[in-house]
Amino acid sequence: MSSSKSKVVDVHTHMYPPAYVELLESRKTIPLIRRFAGADDPRYVILPAEVEALEKIIASGDDASSSAAHLPGRPVTSHFSSIEQKLHFMDTHGIDISVISLANPWLDFVASADAGETAKTVSQDFSRMCEAAEGRLYFFATLPLTAPPETLLASIGHIRSLRYCRGVILGTTGLGNGLDDPALVPILHALAANRLPIFLHPHYGLPSEVWGPRATEEYGHVLPLALGFPMETTIAVARMYLAGVFDAVPDLRMLLAHSGGTLPFLAGRIESCVAHDAHFDGGSSGTPTRRTIWQVLREQIYLDAVIYSEVGLRAAIDASGGTPDRLLFGTDHPFFPPPRDGDAQGLWESVTWNAAAVKGALGEGSAAAAKVMGGNAVEVLRLYEEDRSGAGEE
Ligand code: URA
Ligand code: ZN
Repeated sequence: MSSSKSKVVDVHTHMYPPAYVELLESRKTIPLIRRFAGADDPRYVILPAEVEALEKIIASGDDASSSAAHLPGRPVTSHFSSIEQKLHFMDTHGIDISVISLANPWLDFVASADAGETAKTVSQDFSRMCEAAEGRLYFFATLPLTAPPETLLASIGHIRSLRYCRGVILGTTGLGNGLDDPALVPILHALAANRLPIFLHPHYGLPSEVWGPRATEEYGHVLPLALGFPMETTIAVARMYLAGVFDAVPDLRMLLAHSGGTLPFLAGRIESCVAHDAHFDGGSSGTPTRRTIWQVLREQIYLDAVIYSEVGLRAAIDASGGTPDRLLFGTDHPFFPPPRDGDAQGLWESVTWNAAAVKGALGEGSAAAAKVMGGNAVEVLRLYEEDRSGAGEE
């Protein structure tokens, strides 16, 4: 493991705690956990793009003869719920600290009346897991977004007092109308005032029709995960920017999954479209009254380094102002395990590719690489601070 000076921190790493697993096991529509006669392990079926395959197999009564490769979802392995397994994975990959978060789709499907209590239970589960791991785990809490506003605000009051909580994980739907919804602004203010950054993570991708008729049978999860997820994040943040949310909540800090989707590549195009649109003032002929998307990227946004290539990582660094200070290493564990007969207890290429991209882009052993691998996370998420309640300080 690394010295105290250069901790390796994984900021993008998920868990499904036991109470949440039970909830998914009780469900008949996605997200759910279901046993198929053709497979040893039950399977998590969570993505909208998996609905068609799930419905087909249930309708045909064919699950006994299906090979695992053709079953919807992914196997429920110990990697999703076991702390021992998470720690083993961390040790195997030289990770000192993980900031764990509930995986998608969080509590988006929970009835309004139940959401507050469910969120509390999940946060308590996460607190217990972190406590047991003796300093190696922190967490991003999950908000009860379907609950009434007062319950939702109360949940922020709850998580702010939790010793290991370092922010919240949030999907792109907000209260149901996206993250540019004015009704969400008080929630964002409450998060900012309590210095709880948002880890923004996709789940819904793009409508399944865009993948075409061959996708379900022939292309696995590649299109929704490789393209749908990043576009979802990009669209959500672009909408926030266009609605002026970052100006309305200047203390808000966001960590964007998958290096910001396609934002590093498309920020220039977004900026140009705004500058040339009569809807927005401050274009090339007016007095600028808005911050550019580039400024917002440099001032309020951090990007994880889950992009699997040097090319993408360099773009993310460039989009963040050309410094490595806003990039934070992550793994996306337990997703993307070694395929086929690979050893899930050994090294995962989905991790080593991300670590290699950091080394390649910034230089092995460099101070810049150490920042991305963990130094930035320690600072931005204040990992060693006991009292994080100093609202108002930078
Ligand atoms: N697939 C998911 O559903 N979530 C992730 O975070 C990664 C892959
Ligand atoms: Zn993820």
